Amino acid sequence: MMPFRIPCHESDARTAARLGMIPNIKNLAEAAVPSGNPARKTGKKRLAAMFLITGTIFLGSWASPCRADEPGRGAARRREPEAVGSSPVIKNLVPAGIGAERISGKPEKRRSEMEKFQAEKIRARAAAMLEKAGIVITPLERESMEIVDFGLGDLETMGLEIIVYENNDRYCAKELVLFPRQTCAEHRHPRVSDQNIGKQETFRCRFGEVYLYVPGEPAAEPRAVVPEKYRKYLTVWHEIILRPGDQYTLAPNTLHWFQAGDQGAVVSEFSSTSTDENDIFTDPNIRRVNY
Ligand SMILES: [Fe+2]
Repeated sequence: MMPFRIPCHESDARTAARLGMIPNIKNLAEAAVPSGNPARKTGKKRLAAMFLITGTIFLGSWASPCRADEPGRGAARRREPEAVGSSPVIKNLVPAGIGAERISGKPEKRRSEMEKFQAEKIRARAAAMLEKAGIVITPLERESMEIVDFGLGDLETMGLEIIVYENNDRYCAKELVLFPRQTCAEHRHPRVSDQNIGKQETFRCRFGEVYLYVPGEPAAEPRAVVPEKYRKYLTVWHEIILRPGDQYTLAPNTLHWFQAGDQGAVVSEFSSTSTDENDIFTDPNIRRVNY
């Protein structure tokens, strides 16, 4: 039920009259009272005035945004939240509970545009590396390229770019692109069910140089260059170097991580079914996030 409204300010009635929503009080009273008996004239004047005051209250309340429970005009002019939320544009941009300072939606839109712009630059860079490797991809594959930063927000150091050609319940085929010195974080692919003993994967280098690390004798002088803050989450250091045409197969549930050399690298991955959500990373800060 709509709240009953009354005019909060004298000028509401005047404004209503000026806008033609109600006639001018004085003129209407004079028009309503014909000349003749003074007593009768006075009575009619009172009656007309009462009628006009009642009408003014009614129309003024309709014209004014004030509510009976609001103390003054400043409060009355305040935008009510439900009115803001009813805008179809704002509804699409502002999730429920977002503060009024974000209501315009502009910061979100700008951020989203910047992210799109950044993502496009990253995809273009990766696509150029694929081209260098002689690998042809379709526009759709380029558009759907996964940009993986593991939720660390440090893509240049910890991350990779992935094109998934096929991933079904029997096999999976991907291209992995690594920018110079970019690293795929240490992880393993555990048993998922009785039928799925974990992902087995073969890496074949197509371009550049890849330093792959697995359990075994640690390299005395590993080629990978790792920032100190990530070193504690890299626990296997047996080094395998892959150059174009080299490949290596990992058994399920084997810890591994890899880094591209100074030129970057393109690696084809052939594997059993890929279920990213089941991968286990050594770094507890990692979330498997794609853009
Ligand atoms: Fe893997």
